[in-house]
Amino acid sequence: MFDLIIANGTVIDGTGTPGIKSDVGIVGERIEAIDALVGAEADRVIDAKGLVVSPGFVDPHTHLVWAGSREHELEWKLQGRSYQDILADGGGILRTVRETRAADEEELREQSLKRLRNATRTGTTTIEVKSGYGLQREEELKQLRVARWLGEQGLAEVVSTFMGAHALPDDVNRAEYLEQLEQMLPEAAGLAEYCDVFCEEGAFTIKESRRLLEAAREVGMGLRIHADEFGDTGGGMLGAELKVTSADHLAGSTMETIEALRDAGVTGILLPGTPLALLSSEFAPARKMVAAGLPLALATDCNPNCYTESMQMVMQLAVFRMGLMPAEALTAATLNGALALGRSNRGAIAPGWRADLLVCDVPDYRHLTYHFGINHVETVVIGGQVVNA
Ligand code: NIG
Ligand code: FE
Repeated sequence: MFDLIIANGTVIDGTGTPGIKSDVGIVGERIEAIDALVGAEADRVIDAKGLVVSPGFVDPHTHLVWAGSREHELEWKLQGRSYQDILADGGGILRTVRETRAADEEELREQSLKRLRNATRTGTTTIEVKSGYGLQREEELKQLRVARWLGEQGLAEVVSTFMGAHALPDDVNRAEYLEQLEQMLPEAAGLAEYCDVFCEEGAFTIKESRRLLEAAREVGMGLRIHADEFGDTGGGMLGAELKVTSADHLAGSTMETIEALRDAGVTGILLPGTPLALLSSEFAPARKMVAAGLPLALATDCNPNCYTESMQMVMQLAVFRMGLMPAEALTAATLNGALALGRSNRGAIAPGWRADLLVCDVPDYRHLTYHFGINHVETVVIGGQVVNA
């Protein structure tokens, strides 16, 4: 007796083959059987004949909770201004900080929920969400409370990250803000599983990042780092030294850094939407990373500079601009995303695993990246429940 059977689909079995024809039986939150289930009883049967049944996408890097927007900055970038220049001028992250502070919690929930729905509709079943547009205690906590609330809406499951070290606020001096950040950690740890730092020129130095991440570890948080986005500035190496769960961006990482990350057991999270939105062609050297044996995950980086909730879009960019094979992109968007969030119960279709599944209207999983620019996801199942986002 099953709660749900997804019948007759082509099931992605994670071996890189185009999939196996099978039914999938679900009981409660879990996958119970991958087998011919003809005649089995079920409360509900979804016919997936001619369709692909894929693991749900895991998006392990987003800044989903913000207010306002920055479409005018895209025009500035098109006129030749750089991201760092816009930030140094009080735009970029700092502009979004002003708009996010000005929004009350209700307004912030509403704007963020829209994005979570978009993510879920396009197949994301687990999503990481960072703070970092508050840059002061109460405002950072406000964002983390909104992230927790989002996780209670029966849509994609939310994993929260505290990222007070996203930028230096323009109303506090450096030393003072670093001290405030350390003071925020115990409270942030009550709302967030991870701590992340933007370790880059114009943001936080290696020394500052190391100190904050070590303090976060002291209060029991897992660690992540934004590193080497614009060049190898030492952030990736710091991630390896601290054995962070994930080091993200890595567009400028050298071979030495890639190997150090691999040896430290770090998962690399690649965000191909970011160079796209920066009008840059400096995509992370994914082929070298695969050759070196660094596990790779893909993420949207969804934020007001790089505004997409779609993991399908990101997989397509990874294939078209970073040279990943369709099977590699799918693994990076599912199983390796789960790994990058420390979740070992999802990201694959196997008995006993969490029933986070997608029914996609494609004849073969390779069409997820070959046929680009539309939503292939027809049905989303999260924790055994069919979700209507
Ligand atoms: O991951 N690099 C820093 N943070 C974000 C961008 C946030 C923003 O521009 O608002 C990122 O790309
Ligand atoms: Fe980011």
